[in-house]
Amino acid sequence: MVLYRFVSPEALKEIPPRFKVGSPDLLQPSSFIFNEEYHVYVVRSDQGDFYAISSICTHLGCSVNWRPVSVPGNPKGIISCPCHGSVYDKYGNVLSGPAPRHLDRFAITLENNLLVVNTDKIVPENEMFLKI
Ligand code: FES
Repeated sequence: MVLYRFVSPEALKEIPPRFKVGSPDLLQPSSFIFNEEYHVYVVRSDQGDFYAISSICTHLGCSVNWRPVSVPGNPKGIISCPCHGSVYDKYGNVLSGPAPRHLDRFAITLENNLLVVNTDKIVPENEMFLKI
């Protein structure tokens, strides 16, 4: 059962168009929260900005894992896929395939002092950061 969870395609599961994460104070710089239900990493960067990336691999839809290992040029960890070995950096960029493109990056907003992830709004890397 556990093995199935890690290798099964996640792309067909229902993900709401937006969901609340909570107060920005939940996250210290250089940390993240994983929303397992909606397959989203909510991250606070080293500089204190917030961003949200999908945990669904762009190869065949398996769920990726954030691994706290150091690699050259990406010392704070990598995101890897257990199915076929794709590796992404902490911003979701592909470091090695077979993934054909980066992980989806979702718009993140602050509403009534709560972080909200808009999974219906995929944004490019230069628009993914929320500065508070
Ligand atoms: S599904 Fe992730 S590498 Fe194939």
